[in-house]
Amino acid sequence: MEVTIQAAVSADGFIAKEDGGTDWVQDLELYEQMCRKYGCIAMGRTTYDEYGGPAFEGVQHIVLSRRTQQSAHQNVHFVQSAEQAVAKAKELGFDKLLVIGGGQTNGNFMQTGLAKRLLLNVHPLILGRGKPLFGHTKIGTPLHFKSVKQHPAFIQIQYAVKQ
Ligand SMILES: NC(=O)c1ccc[n+]([C@@H]2O[C@H](COP(=O)([O-])OP(=O)(O)OC[C@H]3O[C@@H](n4cnc5c(N)ncnc54)[C@H](OP(=O)(O)O)[C@@H]3O)[C@@H](O)[C@H]2O)c1
Repeated sequence: MEVTIQAAVSADGFIAKEDGGTDWVQDLELYEQMCRKYGCIAMGRTTYDEYGGPAFEGVQHIVLSRRTQQSAHQNVHFVQSAEQAVAKAKELGFDKLLVIGGGQTNGNFMQTGLAKRLLLNVHPLILGRGKPLFGHTKIGTPLHFKSVKQHPAFIQIQYAVKQ
C-alpha cells in the first residue's frame, strides 16, 4: 500500500491557526484533484466533522476515531487506527491511500511507519502558533528530498520517507 500524506502548511509548519482556521490555504484545487485521483482518502474525525460529511462524491473516505461509529454514507468508513485504515483501503480494492490530516492523524501515519511519501504545499506565511503538521506526536523520521514544484500561490515539496 502506497500511503501518502498531503498537507497545506505555513512556512513554519502549521496546518491551521490555533482556532482551527485555514482561510490562508490556497491549494484547494490541487487538493481536490489529488483526492479524486487517489479515490480513497483517510482523515481524522475532527477533520471529517469540519467537512460535515463526505467531502467528495465518488471518493472513499476512511475516518479515524477511537469511538465506535456507524456511517450514514456508503463512501464513509470509520476505523480505529492507522493500521485499520490501510486494511480498509485494501479491502475496498485500493493500492494507494491519501492521508489528508489533520495533525494527529498525520502524526499517527508517520509514527507507525505506514506513510511512505509526504507532499507539503508550503504557503508563504508565518502563523507563529497553530496546529502542528504532526500534532504533538514525537517523530524522528528522516526523509529523502524528491522534488519541488512551484505553483503561483505555494510550493509543493515532495519527500519520500526513509525506510
Ligand atoms: N492544512 C491542511 O492541510 C489541513 C488538512 C486537514 C485538517 N486541517 C486542520 O487540522 C485540524 C484538525 O486536526 P487535529 O489534529 O485536531 O485532528 P484530526 O487528526 O483531524 O482528528 C483527530 C481525531 O482523530 C481520531 N484519531 C486520531 N488518531 C487516532 C488513532 N491513532 N486511532 C484512532 N483514532 C484516531 C480521534 O477521534 P475521536 O476523538 O473520535 O476518537 C481524534 O480526536 C483542523 O483545524 C483542520 O482544519 C488542516
